[in-house]
Amino acid sequence: MPPLPKAELHLHIEGTLEPELAFDLAARNGVALPYTGTEDLRKAYLFTDLQSFFDLYYELMAVLRTAEDFTELADAYLARAAAQGVRHAEIFFDPQAHTARGVPIGTVVEGLAHALDRADERHGVSTQLIMCFLRDRSADSAMATLDAAKPYLHHISGVGLDSAEAGNPPAKFREVYAAAESLGLRKVAHAGAEGPPAYIREALDILGVERVDHGLRAMEDPELVQRLVRERVPLTVCPLSNVRLRAVDTLEDHPLRAMMDAGLLVTVNSDDPAYFGGYVGDTFHAVREALGLDREQMRQLARNSFEASFLDHDEPRRRRYLDAVDTYEFGGS
Ligand code: ADE
Ligand code: ZN
Repeated sequence: MPPLPKAELHLHIEGTLEPELAFDLAARNGVALPYTGTEDLRKAYLFTDLQSFFDLYYELMAVLRTAEDFTELADAYLARAAAQGVRHAEIFFDPQAHTARGVPIGTVVEGLAHALDRADERHGVSTQLIMCFLRDRSADSAMATLDAAKPYLHHISGVGLDSAEAGNPPAKFREVYAAAESLGLRKVAHAGAEGPPAYIREALDILGVERVDHGLRAMEDPELVQRLVRERVPLTVCPLSNVRLRAVDTLEDHPLRAMMDAGLLVTVNSDDPAYFGGYVGDTFHAVREALGLDREQMRQLARNSFEASFLDHDEPRRRRYLDAVDTYEFGGS
């Protein structure tokens, strides 16, 4: 039985760095990692909060140095994602995390683009690239990053906002998002994972985002939920990430089902699959089990993923993907 076709819309490419590849790249690039091996490194994956995740996430990036490294990273993700039914992926990357280490933005973008440009042919996956700004850095740094990306915008569909949310409201990036819009870029932002519902409103009203990444805490604000339903704003939810970063206690406590029942356009994604215990197919499986979702709810999640994507309404492949979801036959289990 082939896996349910789906799009992945919330995936940090740096978060797909598996311990094995990290050690391979460390050896190739002469980078010393403070772990004795992959087993030892895996022990560091028990996070207590968002900061403990970031500490490891940024530390391991030190192994990514050349365009080939980024190509290999992206190609490994695309192969895994395709095997789990991903037909379309909109992929985040964090240029500032690399430029701060002396890796030029062109190396990052061209390395990733080399894998993405071949993804359709090699893996049967269509792709787009979304450049994220690190919200715990300054708005000036984000603007300089947008400026540095200008020669590479033919590879980039949109901008996003990630890293430590609390204390770094969307409004801080008002000018950067206005500049991105004037360059014809699409706009998304992480909001409402750690930050309050007010950050979701700001992302919509001040940044003009088309999709909200996470958006979990919208559930604390019924009026906001009504608005998100009315305006059909997609929320890219990442249940395994929410458990591992302690936004919810267990998967059984996750509000995904309540969000669907409220009529929200929710999608299910993996966020940082190497760190949070599963790729998107694993995540679909886990939420189905934990929340007791039925087949039609799983189909709805898959449908939502294509509906919420940046694929144009008149793109034939959008229709093809949706047809593949509608005609998908679930196996016996
Ligand atoms: N960057 C990578 N993963 C992230 C997450 N889970 N939240 C915020 N920023 C991130
Ligand atoms: Zn994320």
